Amino acid sequence: MVKKKNEKWTSDCIPDLKEKTIVITGANSGLGFEITKILSTKNPHIIMACRNFEKAEKAKASILKENPEVSLEIMQIDLSKLASVKNFSKQFSGKFDKLDILFNNAGVMFAPKVITEDGFELHMAANHFGHFALTGLLMDKLAKAENARVISISSMGHRFGKVNLKNVNYEKGLYNRIMAYSNSKIANLYFSYELDRKLKESKSSIISVAAHPGWTRTNLQTAGGAIDNSKGSIRFWNFMNIFFSQEVDMGVLPQLRAAFDPNVKGGEYFSPEKFLHLRGYPIIKPSSRRSRNKKNAQQFWEVSEELTGVKYKLK
Ligand SMILES: NC(=O)c1ccc[n+]([C@@H]2O[C@H](COP(=O)([O-])OP(=O)(O)OC[C@H]3O[C@@H](n4cnc5c(N)ncnc54)[C@H](OP(=O)(O)O)[C@@H]3O)[C@@H](O)[C@H]2O)c1
Repeated sequence: MVKKKNEKWTSDCIPDLKEKTIVITGANSGLGFEITKILSTKNPHIIMACRNFEKAEKAKASILKENPEVSLEIMQIDLSKLASVKNFSKQFSGKFDKLDILFNNAGVMFAPKVITEDGFELHMAANHFGHFALTGLLMDKLAKAENARVISISSMGHRFGKVNLKNVNYEKGLYNRIMAYSNSKIANLYFSYELDRKLKESKSSIISVAAHPGWTRTNLQTAGGAIDNSKGSIRFWNFMNIFFSQEVDMGVLPQLRAAFDPNVKGGEYFSPEKFLHLRGYPIIKPSSRRSRNKKNAQQFWEVSEELTGVKYKLK
């Protein structure tokens, strides 16, 4: 459906998606689940890319209960493990000719310090390096679709973030959960914007675009490891959610607009419109100046290729 001037962008603007293949990471919970639910009514084939098969099965069953005709498939991926990302990509590539839309949505917030089997700090691993590697490994399938899109999910938290190229994985200094999350969220923007520049340089038809959901009531604040999982912490987040959060059907709109607004050219950042950009209908709103620094993004891209071993083939 084409949006009229000054009309709010809603999920009614999503076209029919017959013949489209869509991958959604973190599709079993929160924003990823809601996106899966909404898109499944538009006739695409959706791959729910989830780390926990049981949770994904439950999520899939609840959608099928409402609409038994939808085309959903679960494929296992743990984005904090490069071996799992490679395995997912290999399976996907063996099975599908093309990929139309990749929602790099999964994420973890405010977790305690964990160094993964690849030597990465957990937030950087799951939120950035995993998606960086996944996108790179699926590039040839994205190139085979007509105007494919890669949607990266950041956060208002990116404004506090900074990627220290000499200490990306917290090898040195004190660990801080809030900063670790914020750093991974500015990393998502460096990735999205640098990918956009590289795609345009190589005259690719693939579009890279970013979004954030404002403050949306999901499992992120309570079950995602946020601060800690104590009763006090969960009560605190539930209390804060009452005042600041929006419902998940609104929180998904920036991601969905990034994926389906026909005017998107690449390099945009969609954000909720109202109250400190924490809630409301999606609009384009520039991210922080630091996140738009080309030199930082280029250098971080090189570090990401080196550490993941995934070299992008764009020409
Ligand atoms: N909600 C907000 O207010 C808000 C604000 C700003 C940005 N965001 C961003 O929105 C995205 C989605 O978050 P949400 O709010 O929907 O939270 P959520 O309900 O906690 O969902 C997060 C999803 O990511 C998955 N995940 C976490 N680590 C993973 C890993 N290593 N491998 C594969 N999947 C993994 C989770 O799987 P499990 O179920 O197995 O844990 C879950 O499916 C995140 O990138 C987050 O940073 C959210």
